[in-house]
Amino acid sequence: MKIKKQDGPPSELLYFDDELDLSPKQIEDVVEIFNTPLTGSYNWDYTVADNRIKKLYELGKELNWNGSIDLNWDYTHPEDEKLVDPDEQLPHETLKAYEALTAKEKIEFDRHSTAELLSQFLHGEQGALLVASQLASCAPTYNAKLYAASQTFDEARHVEVFNKYLQDKIGIHYPINPSLKLLLDKILTDERWDLKFIGMQIIIEGLALAAFGMLKSITTDPLLKQLLHYVIRDEARHVTFGINYLEDFIKTLSPEEVQERAEFAYEACVISRERLINTKAEQKYLKMSPEEAREFQMSTASFALFRNFLFSRVIPNLSRIGLLTEEIRPKFEALGLLEYEHAPDDFECDWAELQKPLESFDEIPEAV
Ligand SMILES: [Fe+2]
Ligand SMILES: [Fe+2]
Repeated sequence: MKIKKQDGPPSELLYFDDELDLSPKQIEDVVEIFNTPLTGSYNWDYTVADNRIKKLYELGKELNWNGSIDLNWDYTHPEDEKLVDPDEQLPHETLKAYEALTAKEKIEFDRHSTAELLSQFLHGEQGALLVASQLASCAPTYNAKLYAASQTFDEARHVEVFNKYLQDKIGIHYPINPSLKLLLDKILTDERWDLKFIGMQIIIEGLALAAFGMLKSITTDPLLKQLLHYVIRDEARHVTFGINYLEDFIKTLSPEEVQERAEFAYEACVISRERLINTKAEQKYLKMSPEEAREFQMSTASFALFRNFLFSRVIPNLSRIGLLTEEIRPKFEALGLLEYEHAPDDFECDWAELQKPLESFDEIPEAV
């Protein structure tokens, strides 16, 4: 075993090609250390209320899938076809610089931009894995500990499948977006367990659900569609757990403590909305500077719609758990996000939908 410690995440792309030697002797784990003042709790009362959390835990066990055999890894998308080919044009497709690319370069750009996005999903999933394992220690009630443990295994599977898809089917890892890293650092190192819970289960997973759903609807690769579909089904359970548990817990906090959580949720939304923009593939292929690529994305109408759509689950869920306080509302209003306030939240989830047996490769529906 070789472990190399470094001060931050890698900043370079990693290519997985035939020349890469993955023999055990060659593998070196690259780690970055973080410290966390974790306040854990035993729970000595093993009685479980027969409630939604228990039901979600049971469902989690029932719908456990196996990342190495339940996905159709035999499928490989044709080399000359894009992974993402939406009906409507994506913003970059309207650019002269994009039109000027050869057919081969357009495919390369497609692989790179998809790898950049999926790599953020991969790194976010690793963050979720670390947070879920912390929650098993910190969450105060017995049923939440059991649930957090089952979620930890779900997240391990998500890391596994995103990584396998990136390595085997695209062959590229992109480094983590610095703003996503900032969010994960904050969540992982904060000592308040409920803040980890809000940051991960409500905000990051809420955003992830919307982003996974968007990619699932525009990818033409049926394997990627199946992978995203399975992950989305797990994440829908996670978000429902977060809301059901936090709604009760937040009622136990003082008004000052609630306000602190509301501010934190707002800050996390600002970072997610303003900074979680992937531009490396655009910089490389469309020859833009980082600022130009960012400005370009921010200025397109479709991207603005998409950016707000990402919050269509986060905002009603924050409202449901009591974090859209009077003091914080004007700030969300200024971001243009309050329009989602009355969209359906994930408290009253669709149990029939959550309970359905997993669909096979040929039966993946368009929408969940
Ligand atoms: Fe996940
Ligand atoms: Fe999750």
